[in-house]
Amino acid sequence: MRKILRTLSEKTGQYDRLLQLYFRWSLFLRRLETRILIPTLSSSAIIRKIYFSFFSDVFSSEMKMYILGRQHYLERSLFEQSNPSHLRRNIHRLEKGLMAENRRELFGADYLLETVHQFAYSVAELDRCTLNDWAFDVLQQYFQWSPNVPLVEQAKQIFTEVAYTKLLPEVFRGPYVKGPTDKELYSRFSILAKSRKSVRSFVPGSVPANDVLENAVRLAALAPSSCNRQPFRFVVLTQSGMVTDVARLAGGARSFAEGIPALAVVLGSTAVSPSPGDRHLMYIDGSLAAMSFMLALESQGCSSCPINWPDHKKADAALRKCLSIQAYERPVMLIAMGLARDNSMVACSVRKEVKELLEII
Ligand SMILES: Cc1cc2nc3c(=O)[nH]c(=O)nc-3n(C[C@H](O)[C@H](O)[C@H](O)COP(=O)(O)O)c2cc1C
Repeated sequence: MRKILRTLSEKTGQYDRLLQLYFRWSLFLRRLETRILIPTLSSSAIIRKIYFSFFSDVFSSEMKMYILGRQHYLERSLFEQSNPSHLRRNIHRLEKGLMAENRRELFGADYLLETVHQFAYSVAELDRCTLNDWAFDVLQQYFQWSPNVPLVEQAKQIFTEVAYTKLLPEVFRGPYVKGPTDKELYSRFSILAKSRKSVRSFVPGSVPANDVLENAVRLAALAPSSCNRQPFRFVVLTQSGMVTDVARLAGGARSFAEGIPALAVVLGSTAVSPSPGDRHLMYIDGSLAAMSFMLALESQGCSSCPINWPDHKKADAALRKCLSIQAYERPVMLIAMGLARDNSMVACSVRKEVKELLEII
C-alpha cells in the first residue's frame, strides 16, 4: 500500500496528505469491523460458517494442513504400512497401563491387535531401531502381565512371529523407577533460564558446530509431547545466502536477517494424529521442544533468537521452494543461532509479575 501511495505522491507531490487519508480510511474500516462485523460473527455459528466459507480465507491453510495430515496418518495406519506415530501412541498407552497403580488385569484390548500389526510393519520397514526396541520391551512386558484370553493370545502370536532382535539388547526400554530430583537443580536451572536472551547481533560466520546442534536436538527431544509422538523436526540452514533469504521471509527478522550465522527451521507435522482436536499439537509440542533446544544451545555457549513464522501464503510457498518440506509439515518458528557479538545489547523485556501469571486455587 505504501508503495502505491509513494508512486501516487510522486505524481501529485502530496505524500503526507495521502498517507493521512490512508490512515484515516484504515481506522474507519477497523472501527466498522469492531463494532459491526465482529459482533455479528461472534453472535452466530451459521454466519461465521458463511463468512469463513465465502468471504475470508484466513483458515484455509489450517484446513489444508489438517486434511493432509489426516490423509497421511490414515493411509499409513489403514493400509498395512508402518505409521510410527500410531505405534508410538499405542505403545505409550500400554506403558501407562503397565505402570498404573491400580493396574487392570486386562487393558488395551481395543487397540492391541492394531498395535502388534503396527509393530510388525515397523520392524519390516525400519528394522532395528530404538522405537522398535521400546515397542518390543513394552509389548513383551504386556504379554507377561496379561491374562491368556483369546485376543491376547492372538496378538502374542503375531508379536512372536515378528522375531525381533533388539538394536541394544542391554538397554531395557519399559517403565522404570525415576530417581530423586537433584536438590541443586532449581538454582542451576535458574542460572540457565536467566542467561538465555534473544540475541540479534552475532559474530559473523559463527555457525554452531554439528555436535552443538546434535546435543541441542538430543535435549529438545526430551521435551514432553502428546503421546510421545514428537511431531517436529529441526532443519538447520548454515549457508549464509540461504539463511538470509529464509530469515527475510519472516517479517520479524528483516532488521537483522543479514547477520544471522545459522537458522533452524522448526517444522511441525500434522500427520501424527487423525483427530481434528489434535491439530494444534504440532505447535504445542514443537514449541516445547524449541524451548529446550534454545536452552541447550545457551548451555553450550551458543545464542539464539526465536523468530515468528506467521501464516502467510507467499512466505510459505517461498520457503517450500528453498527446503524439502512435506505437504503436511509447516514451520512452527525459526530460530537464529550463533555466537553473540561482544558487548551486543539485548532487550530488557520486562516480564509479567508472578501474581499476573499464577493463580493458585
Ligand atoms: C514464538 C516467538 C516468536 C518471536 N518472533 C520474533 C521475531 O519475529 N523477531 C524478533 O526479533 N524476536 C522474536 N521473538 C523474540 C521475542 O521478542 C523475545 O523472546 C521476547 O521479547 C522476550 O525477550 P528475551 O527472549 O530476550 O527474554 C519471538 C519469540 C517467540 C517465542
